[in-house]
Amino acid sequence: MLKISVLVSGGGTNLQAIIDGIQEGKNNIDSELSIVNAEIVQVISSKKQAFALKRAEKHGIKTVVADHQDYPDSKERNQRILEALRHEGTDLVVLAGYMSILDSTIVREYAGKIINIHPSLIPKYCGTGYYGKRVHQAVLDNKETESGATVHIVDEGVDTGPIILQEKVPVNPEDSADTLAARVLETEHRLLRKVIKEAAVKGGF
Ligand code: GRF
Repeated sequence: MLKISVLVSGGGTNLQAIIDGIQEGKNNIDSELSIVNAEIVQVISSKKQAFALKRAEKHGIKTVVADHQDYPDSKERNQRILEALRHEGTDLVVLAGYMSILDSTIVREYAGKIINIHPSLIPKYCGTGYYGKRVHQAVLDNKETESGATVHIVDEGVDTGPIILQEKVPVNPEDSADTLAARVLETEHRLLRKVIKEAAVKGGF
């Protein structure tokens, strides 16, 4: 059973996609997006108010908050996260809309076992400053005709680890950052489920 710790900061739609994939697997729905042999052992949030926490609670998933208020010192905050990962015997760490940088101690201890979902075709529109709506606005400002989503292994850089899976998404002439974000988000959910499905079968990457 692949033990997954999911790190969140916001609405948690990517977390929900994983929850739904696992639920489908439990109901023996054999689709390309149903996930078997995996469980979410905890959701760790960098924000107390993240709606992602409500999604976890609704499904009886353990939640941990490691936010800047309780842990103003980054080292202490990351130590709290590391302790939680170890405590639950985490096999895979998924950054799902996680808006903080992970300390190198965590990245090294879980090398090759941390994945992130980024809302662009990496290496375009990624790295420091490219997150959330800013990504999509930059795509529109540059009059791109396509964007996409990427799942990659997290290394000590920002959005620089090896790409596992990515998929293109068309940009429509009438798109706003919101409409493009919504289309890319759907692809994020699908890619994340596919990658986790395969990792659960193979026991990792
Ligand atoms: C979205 O901008 C998504 O592109 C990125 O994180 C943000 C929130 O995701 N991966 P979620 O709804 O909190 O999962």
